[in-house]
Amino acid sequence: MRIPVLLIAIAGVAAAQTAQPFSHRVHLAAKLDCAVCHAGDNLRPAASACVRCHKTAEIGPPIATRLARFDHQLHLKLGNLAPLIAAAINKKTYLTPAAPELRAQLNTLNPCQACHRGLEVSDRPDRSGLPQMADCLVCHNQIDPPYSCEFCHAKGAELKPASHSPDFLDTHTSGKLSLDKTTCAVCHGRKFHCLGCH
Ligand code: HEC
Ligand code: HEC
Ligand code: HEC
Ligand code: HEC
Ligand code: HEC
Ligand code: HEC
Ligand code: HEC
Repeated sequence: MRIPVLLIAIAGVAAAQTAQPFSHRVHLAAKLDCAVCHAGDNLRPAASACVRCHKTAEIGPPIATRLARFDHQLHLKLGNLAPLIAAAINKKTYLTPAAPELRAQLNTLNPCQACHRGLEVSDRPDRSGLPQMADCLVCHNQIDPPYSCEFCHAKGAELKPASHSPDFLDTHTSGKLSLDKTTCAVCHGRKFHCLGCH
């Protein structure tokens, strides 16, 4: 009679070791509101929200971003920002090429999903659920690198993309780098002046 007890104990340990990553897809399919798990000032999920349905729950560390600061409560007071971001895409003032599925996701009535899109198909926490810089620039539209970048990023952060080799100022004019010009606008804007050439 003691063997089954031992087996249960071993099975318990095995289950704990193969903990699955958290899946928004699974939980949102159950029609759970974001606020069931994301309440409180910083909106980090609370383990106390899980015990309703699970005996134990593990919450991983926050996803690393490059932002120096961001205040959820301040931005949530502005209401659902999805129509505003959608309008920028429609008017072609959105500064990053927008995939058609992004425009469709912005038909949401959920204010969280204006910035956090695609979670209903996400099977693990990762950066894909975070907003793009172009979303922020719909409102914070002053662009003057590197100074304007410090509004959101740490002062002195290395923010140039890898394409910007030390001789980039010379080489970018050659027409030989096959640069995708649609990708420049998010950091340089669409109208900029630089040393008299632009
Ligand atoms: C309202 C009930 C409910 C709450 C609250 C809830 N879950 Fe779940 N969870 C489920 C259901 C239902 C499943 C799917 C179970 C299955 O398919 O076996 C699940 C599955 C999981 C799984 C297994 C992996 C997977 O995707 O199938 C993990 C890990 C998990 N939940 C973590 C959490 C965490 C962490 C919290 C709290 C932040 C939480 N859950 C809150 C209902 C809930
Ligand atoms: C059942 C609980 C639960 C619900 C409901 C839920 N989340 Fe989460 N969410 C979590 C957990 C747990 C994590 C962190 C997982 C980790 O890091 O281990 C997380 C992480 C996140 C993250 C950061 C990581 C990522 O994957 O992008 C965002 C953003 C997020 N949730 C937004 C939302 C939004 C928006 C909703 C509603 C549409 C929502 N969540 C609904 C539990 C939940
Ligand atoms: C204006 C855009 C915007 C809106 C609206 C928004 N978020 Fe976020 N959210 C962000 C940004 C930006 C980050 C990354 C913050 C950082 O790096 O400090 C983030 C991060 C998160 C995280 C990850 C926190 C962590 O430390 O792991 C969660 C969870 C989250 N948001 C949930 C929500 C929920 C729930 C709502 C709705 C109540 C919401 N967000 C509304 C922009 C937004
Ligand atoms: C609907 C327009 C709108 C959008 C979109 C928006 N913001 Fe804001 N943001 C504001 C307003 C309004 C304020 C308050 C006035 C100010 O400081 O400019 C603010 C303030 C801030 C501040 C300064 C707050 C502080 O802590 O002092 C930061 C940083 C910021 N936003 C970052 C972001 C980021 C990052 C995003 C994108 C994820 C974003 N904002 C998207 C309107 C917006
Ligand atoms: C209003 C807020 C805001 C301003 C101003 C801003 N950014 Fe960002 N930036 C973001 C957000 C949000 C992300 C996406 C989250 C992340 O990767 O940390 C981001 C991401 C980035 C990334 C990482 C991209 C990647 O794919 O890894 C770089 C590089 C960057 N920004 C450079 C800049 C530069 C250069 C400027 C100034 C011209 C600037 N940012 C101004 C909000 C801002
Ligand atoms: C000597 C003249 C010259 C100078 C100085 C110069 N550029 Fe350019 N730039 C060009 C030319 C010519 C092109 C077009 C290259 C091509 O078609 O591939 C270009 C293209 C660009 C583009 C691509 C988008 C567009 O409008 O074509 C960006 C972004 C850009 N330059 C940024 C800058 C920045 C930022 C500076 C200042 C730090 C700068 N340039 C200084 C001549 C110059
Ligand atoms: C992720 C943001 C980002 C993107 C995207 C980006 N740049 Fe830049 N670029 C910067 C920053 C930051 C600087 C440095 C500004 C400063 O310190 O004066 C810079 C500087 C430059 C300079 C001056 C030379 C140098 O290396 O400092 C040129 C020319 C330039 N960029 C052209 C372009 C072109 C062309 C594109 C598109 C193919 C582009 N950039 C895309 C962030 C970006």
